[in-house]
Amino acid sequence: MATHHLHASQLINRPIDEVFAFFARPENLGRITPPAMGFRQLSTDIAMRPGLELDHRIRPLPGISMRWRSWIETYDPPNGFTDVQARGPYRSWVHRHRFTAVDGGTRIDDDIEYSLPLGPLGEMAHRLNVRSQLLEIFRHRARTIEAIFAPASAIDHPLTVGVAGGTGFVGGAIAAEVRRRGHRVVVLTHRGDEARGPLPDDVELRHVDVTTGEGLPDALAGMDALVVALAFRNSPMEAPRRGLTFMAVDAAGTERLAAAARSAGVGRLVYLSGAGAAPDARHWFRAKWRAETAVRESGIPFTIIRPTWIYGPRDVSLNRFLGFARLLQAVPMTNLGRQQLAPVFIDDIARLAADGLVDPAAANQVFEVGGPETLSMREIIRRALRIAGIRRPIVPGPAPLIKLAALPLVLLPQPPLTPDGVDFINAPATVALGPLLDRMPRALTPLDAGLATYLAPSAGPATVSIDPMADPTVRAAPGPA
Ligand SMILES: NC(=O)c1ccc[n+]([C@@H]2O[C@H](COP(=O)([O-])OP(=O)(O)OC[C@H]3O[C@@H](n4cnc5c(N)ncnc54)[C@H](OP(=O)(O)O)[C@@H]3O)[C@@H](O)[C@H]2O)c1
Repeated sequence: MATHHLHASQLINRPIDEVFAFFARPENLGRITPPAMGFRQLSTDIAMRPGLELDHRIRPLPGISMRWRSWIETYDPPNGFTDVQARGPYRSWVHRHRFTAVDGGTRIDDDIEYSLPLGPLGEMAHRLNVRSQLLEIFRHRARTIEAIFAPASAIDHPLTVGVAGGTGFVGGAIAAEVRRRGHRVVVLTHRGDEARGPLPDDVELRHVDVTTGEGLPDALAGMDALVVALAFRNSPMEAPRRGLTFMAVDAAGTERLAAAARSAGVGRLVYLSGAGAAPDARHWFRAKWRAETAVRESGIPFTIIRPTWIYGPRDVSLNRFLGFARLLQAVPMTNLGRQQLAPVFIDDIARLAADGLVDPAAANQVFEVGGPETLSMREIIRRALRIAGIRRPIVPGPAPLIKLAALPLVLLPQPPLTPDGVDFINAPATVALGPLLDRMPRALTPLDAGLATYLAPSAGPATVSIDPMADPTVRAAPGPA
């Protein structure tokens, strides 16, 4: 039985007591675990102390949910604590958390000694999959911790900015950018505090369900501006019986928000649409057109942003292909991957949306936006794999057969794929950048540079390694002091 060692180290620009207090609250574990792992805290007694038992549920692999019980072996505030797996997927798991006050803040060190069950089979699973999954989980944790403790500017006349969809990929990045610039951010969510994730604690959450209007217009009281970046759960795979459709959420939801914003006296609207929105397009882009129409006709100065394919550390599209590569040893595609796309980096979208809130040049404008390069889907995935250091073949798929196979899946409550979803994924997405760049000049991030900020093995705010002595390919990455 081999014992493995994971080490992660990160510097946070906050005092040790504050950082320790965050980690000493087990309810924060769900915030820093990748959403795909479906983490759920089951224990109600969670006051940290030696001997405390904590139960949670996780999904280590898609479709496989299991219980994990750990207990707190040592607890020494603010220097550290140790949790040990009592029952769970590993044969053994001992996780030491250490906190050290250093120049510039607090260094967080995680050391985990773990082993897998099933002898050689477990070791094979470790080589093929577990190792890379663990590295990815700890990189995600590090990025989330950095976001939660991110500093914000102090400015003279901050706006109060609402972000509908601020718990999601695009809205979350916009909320972070708007807060970084010194504005006060209020995020509208229909899930409540469990959806907070990487949003810092000074971001207020207000309950709004855009499909029923619950919480509106009161939740918009006092807002100077509103950003709308809505999508239904598991988009673009619709589940009509559960009301998860483009028309119900993107179209009708935005109509409700625009009407409520008008009656609440909101002074500016920024809407995240999609490249292709048109009255005669497929129904997902017709829904976007309906939403755009509500925004245009609201009487509120607006900016409509129509992005192509957005990529970034928290996207669920390009990252899904990388997830397949880690899990399956190959990257399956839903067509031949020849469609042309101009992928745009999430930071560029966040900056544009934040500019749209205040820049007079953006008022009452519709901007199409993509990245600076147009490439085939296959080439984009190839570059992402190369930068992530993953060698896997890309396996093209026959779109008509995949759509046929996806047909019965529409009966599932949360279909992993639908025939329409396949068409959505396979559609080209390119734009004319001229009108945006003429009016709001800016440099857009080249694909390789954007991908490198989060996919390169040494990228990110932490150094993370597993068995570095046994792995000659691991080089010493630059880390916190
Ligand atoms: N991702 C891309 O590549 C891309 C490209 C072009 C355009 N866009 C546009 O960007 C927007 C956001 O996309 P995304 O990728 O960020 O989606 P996402 O990560 O799934 O986020 C969707 C957001 O919508 C909110 N939401 C869903 N149902 C709601 C309800 N009933 N009431 C209130 N809020 C609700 C969710 O909040 P709660 O669950 O917390 O309530 C969540 O914050 C979409 O309009 C999309 O068309 C995205």
